[in-house]
Amino acid sequence: MFISIRNDSEEAGFEAGKKAASLIRQAIISKGNATIILATGSSQFETLNQLSGEQGIDWSKVSMFHLDEYIDLPVSHKAGFRKYLKERFIEKVGPLKSVNLINGEADPQEECQRLGRLISETTVDVALVGIGENGHLAFNDPPADFETENAYLVVKLDEQCRQQQVNEGWFDSMEEVPTHAISMSVKQIMLSKHIVATVPGIRKAKAVKNTLERPVSNNYPASILQNHPDCYLFLDKASASLLKER
Ligand code: GLP
Repeated sequence: MFISIRNDSEEAGFEAGKKAASLIRQAIISKGNATIILATGSSQFETLNQLSGEQGIDWSKVSMFHLDEYIDLPVSHKAGFRKYLKERFIEKVGPLKSVNLINGEADPQEECQRLGRLISETTVDVALVGIGENGHLAFNDPPADFETENAYLVVKLDEQCRQQQVNEGWFDSMEEVPTHAISMSVKQIMLSKHIVATVPGIRKAKAVKNTLERPVSNNYPASILQNHPDCYLFLDKASASLLKER
């Protein structure tokens, strides 16, 4: 794994956005199109800001898939990931080849199957991901399902994950945070040719340490990234602060 430790979240996101842009350009040059997966959450603010402003990417050749979404949260809710991606990425880059958002208000199993069929028709070039305070990858909270072959699954959100969303101001109380979500599976994320993870902030320090210094285990879902052949992890000094000397 390539690990970069920058001064702060702005620098980490800048580098991550630049790396993702370069991998997308390479895919378009080599095969004429690119497929990407986008994550949401506070950790992706700077990364998506940088990526959406990059020059020299023909976005009409790029297909986009969406990592995770709450079940039964109205599309207009401030915490909704569709709203987030529309405002912070889709509307900024202009028309993409295709946009495959997760409709958390549809029948969840049918939505998982619909998106699963679509993503199975393509090879994902670049996945942008974050890591939650509880070590989750997408919404695969510990202990995560490392075995399912389904590309998307319905997951129950654990207490720490839901509390993080309140602490970050996306919801006013725990009662308001949905209990379930549709998440891309761990195996599907790992099928991506390249993974760009942006994980800034002191609140992530323990999760980063577990991701890198524990043996791979579904109790630390992001530790699976150790097994990926081309993963780039962008940290800042705060999120890297518990790591052993490297
Ligand atoms: C969040 C989102 C994911 C994101 C990850 C890290 O809960 N569901 O899309 O990659 O978990 O998010 P955050 O930046 O909020 O910690």
